[in-house]
Amino acid sequence: MEKKGQLYEGKAKKVFATDDPELLIVDYKDDATAFNGEKKGTILGKGVINNRMSNFLMQLLEKDGVPTHFVKELSERETLVKKVTIVPLEVIIRNIAAGSFSKRYGVEEGTPLKQPSLEFSYKNDDLGDPLINEYHVLALGLATKEDLDTIAKYAFHVNEFLKAYFLKLDVELVDFKLEFGKTSDGTIVLADEISPDTCRFWDVHTHEKLDKDRFRRNMGGEAEAYQEMMRRLMGQ
Ligand code: TMP
Repeated sequence: MEKKGQLYEGKAKKVFATDDPELLIVDYKDDATAFNGEKKGTILGKGVINNRMSNFLMQLLEKDGVPTHFVKELSERETLVKKVTIVPLEVIIRNIAAGSFSKRYGVEEGTPLKQPSLEFSYKNDDLGDPLINEYHVLALGLATKEDLDTIAKYAFHVNEFLKAYFLKLDVELVDFKLEFGKTSDGTIVLADEISPDTCRFWDVHTHEKLDKDRFRRNMGGEAEAYQEMMRRLMGQ
């Protein structure tokens, strides 16, 4: 599949057209940002790890009944994906209190939640991705009720699958962010990526952070943490 013109450059990925109007190529960068792009840096090797890890997990999820945008891994950093219209929502699932949830509700980080929670943020950089509720989503016409129900069903399914999968690797899935898109025939599919950029992973015994929080919080060791997640998941 030939890479044609660049359509878009995001904070962590570039997107290219292909000969097929239904397919795109994503190209993962080592660039890292936090706080809506205010903090900038690089995590060496991150693009390769996120590409391979996300593709690996999406293929497992696809087999478990969650439709995804994944088509084919083309190289270390490049993947062929279905072209979708992204639903402009960040879908966040939490199992353990951390990050903005801990801050907003005054709950100590590491407190297990009584049940998994789901929240939406409106994907809008100018507004800083504000928290948004289902009524707001419908009022603004960002998605239909039917789409939201499908998205919530898939998101909780992804959580149950990944939580169990990572636990076998001695990793706690604290929380994560998903994005969904609609293909040209109107099917909702899981899009974007599943990686240490978009998930909080803690070692089950030591609670060591194995994700992008090491970068967000200036802890150091972020490249090593990504490598460790890759090693546990894919044995390399
Ligand atoms: P939060 O606690 O900062 O709201 O983050 C919740 C989860 O979402 C966490 O796993 C990190 C992920 N996340 C993203 O993938 N992109 C973002 O822009 C933000 C703020 C969080």
